[in-house]
Amino acid sequence: NKVFIPEVFFTNDCLTGEDVVKSTRVLGDLDGVFQDKEAYGKMNKEQAVYHVSSYLPVLENTPGGLFMGITTLYPGKVGQEYFMTKGHFHSNSDRAEFYWGVEGEGFLILMDERRNVWAERMFPGSLHYIPGKVAHRVANTGYQKLVFSACWPSDAGHDYATIADAGFARRLVDVNGVPTLV
Ligand code: PA5
Ligand code: NI
Repeated sequence: NKVFIPEVFFTNDCLTGEDVVKSTRVLGDLDGVFQDKEAYGKMNKEQAVYHVSSYLPVLENTPGGLFMGITTLYPGKVGQEYFMTKGHFHSNSDRAEFYWGVEGEGFLILMDERRNVWAERMFPGSLHYIPGKVAHRVANTGYQKLVFSACWPSDAGHDYATIADAGFARRLVDVNGVPTLV
C-alpha cells in the first residue's frame, strides 16, 4: 500500500518541484509593448513586471499533453497603461486555454483574428475559457499583485511575433481612475 507524494506543489503564487520552469519578465523585456514611450523611457528597466512558474510534465509539442502555469503580475502603470503580460496567440492557433483568477484583480484582454478586442474581469475564483485563435494578455488594474493560473495543451506553443508586430487593437488604460479599453 504505497502512498505516492506529488512531485509538484503550488502555493498561492508559485509552482515548485521538478519539471517546473520559472521565468521573470522585467520592464526591459517589454520594450515596445506599452504605448507611452516617454514614460517607459524614464522607468527602471530592471523592475520586475511578472513571474511565471510552469509545470511541464511532458515535452513541448507533445500531442495530447497539458501544461500548467501560475503568473504573478505586479501592480503598476507605464503612463496610464496598466502593467500587463506580453500577450500571444498560440503557434498551433486553434489550441484553447483556461485562465483562472487566484489573487488580486485585473482584466483578461482577448483579441480574435479579425482584431475584435474584449475584456473579462479577473478576480479570485474567476474562470476564463480562451478559445483557439484568440490572443490573450492580462492587465493588473489593482494595487496588489494579481495572481492567475493557466492550463494549456502541450502542443499549443506561444506565438509572440504577431502581437509584437501588430499589437492588440485596443489598450486597457486608466481614465480618471477607471480601467477603460481604448
Ligand atoms: O500560457 C499562458 O498563456 C500563460 O502561462 C502565459 O504564458 C503567462 O501568463 C505569461 O504571459 P505571456 O506568455 O503572454 O508573456
Ligand atoms: Ni496562452
